[in-house]
Amino acid sequence: MDQPVNADQFKLGMRGLAHAVNVITATHAGHRYGLTATAVCSVTAEPPTLLVCVNQRAATHGALAKSKAFCVNVLRAEDSDLSNLFSGAQSGEKRFDTREWTKLATGSPVLLDALVSFDCRVVKKLKHGSHTVFLGQVQQVLFGKKGKPLLYAEGQYAKLASLAHGEPLPEGLDYWGF
Ligand SMILES: Cc1cc2nc3c(=O)[nH]c(=O)nc-3n(C[C@H](O)[C@H](O)[C@H](O)COP(=O)(O)O)c2cc1C
Repeated sequence: MDQPVNADQFKLGMRGLAHAVNVITATHAGHRYGLTATAVCSVTAEPPTLLVCVNQRAATHGALAKSKAFCVNVLRAEDSDLSNLFSGAQSGEKRFDTREWTKLATGSPVLLDALVSFDCRVVKKLKHGSHTVFLGQVQQVLFGKKGKPLLYAEGQYAKLASLAHGEPLPEGLDYWGF
């Protein structure tokens, strides 16, 4: 049988895959939880669904699994400090102290000035290795504050030099296909 590559090779390869940086939040038993995550992806527009991959050891994992809800807050280019807080520089609910948060349909914390926030109900989950993939049906979308996204590539935060200088796709081609 084929052998998989080792974890170090996999991680090295993944450094080349640029991602948007997000904070995934959940509320359980009156407490707020959240972590920085790049493993976020759209699944399908009908029904509107996205997926997130969360380490089973992360404090947010239990809250998300029990509440069956989460919010994906897409960070702006200025938000690398917030990303640091939610990935270990701070712990527990203190992570929420420096910014303003609100709630939408599911009650999960929504960052008021995120680029955009997706408030989701968990509709499916799949455990694989260290992580769980949660599929979330999007209940509400909040467009927070306009700006550029915070990116992560080659182990560093990165920003788009300019969205205005992007190259348009040829006529008729777009991400959603068909
Ligand atoms: C740029 C970046 C991306 C990350 N992406 C993910 C991710 O997609 N899923 C995940 O489970 N952890 C991810 N992490 C790690 C968590 O943010 C980190 O382990 C966090 O501290 C977990 O929360 P906890 O300390 O409350 O357990 C990422 C960290 C960074 C810095």
